[in-house]
Amino acid sequence: MKNFLAISDFSSQEIQALLDLAIQLKKEFFASGNPPLFKGKVLGMIFQKPSLRTRVSFDMAMRHMGGDALYLSPNEIGLGKRESIADVARVLSGYVSILMARVFEHEHVLELAKWSNIPVINGLSDYNHPCQGMADALTIQEKFGNLKGINVAYIGDGNNVAVSLMHVCAKLGANFTIANPEGYGIPAKPIEIARQITRETGGGLKFLVDPEEAVKGAQVIYTDTWTSMGQEDEQAKREKLFPPYQVNSNLVAKADKDVIVMHCLPAHRNHELTDDVADGPHSVIFPQAHNRLHAQKAILARLLGVA
Ligand code: CP
Ligand code: NVA
Repeated sequence: MKNFLAISDFSSQEIQALLDLAIQLKKEFFASGNPPLFKGKVLGMIFQKPSLRTRVSFDMAMRHMGGDALYLSPNEIGLGKRESIADVARVLSGYVSILMARVFEHEHVLELAKWSNIPVINGLSDYNHPCQGMADALTIQEKFGNLKGINVAYIGDGNNVAVSLMHVCAKLGANFTIANPEGYGIPAKPIEIARQITRETGGGLKFLVDPEEAVKGAQVIYTDTWTSMGQEDEQAKREKLFPPYQVNSNLVAKADKDVIVMHCLPAHRNHELTDDVADGPHSVIFPQAHNRLHAQKAILARLLGVA
């Protein structure tokens, strides 16, 4: 493993092995603490967009395992503006051991990976959010044992989070369904990648418009913001279109009785997810957020070559 840029770059076996390592590291962390496998290693964290979970969970993952992390804000680096991405990558390669970047254009994280001679992790781009996808799969695996044959219904915008969730479901043989308003679906290219994966794994894929149809038999309901970072000028239009896709108690009642409700957070409460569902018995949104820490420890350990 040189970089961690997309779930689809890895085999099903590699993804499953990462999840199993995450479970092992999580158990170890709560039993006795993790050993200092990252001693002397520093993670450089480049952010072009705001973050709570990604920033803090990566920082703490490094600290728990004896390493350190450095936060580089949008204003400081000016990725591709103050300095070319290729130059930033080559300079940072001499200072830190590994990089994580949250960017607007996916091309920018690819460019960083191309020019750096240290590993690069994608901490969210406009295309995907693979670290989130791993934490999501970890959360589903903890609940159901594994993802094979699990019915996952994503309700809302076909965005970066939806792409990584679809790909991790495809890799692990889950049945992924999305319901989105017309024109707000997952783009054709990642769908084609998912189709290729499911030909091998037997996972299911369904692309619907009706949220009620999507949640029939669902063991997982997933939603995310209707307006992602960088789309703020579309917000008013989206707020008018998306209300039929709200995950509320009526929709949850139409799914499997033991359904879990997931959201990558930050949640826009009473927009895509109502308070009663977010704070109700089906919700796993906080354990899901906490799983970012454990999933990312596994990713870091693999990329740093210590596990
Ligand atoms: N889910 C997630 O990536 O959260 P942040 O934007 O707060 O990092
Ligand atoms: N789809 C959201 C996810 C935030 C973690 C965004 O890109 O803003």
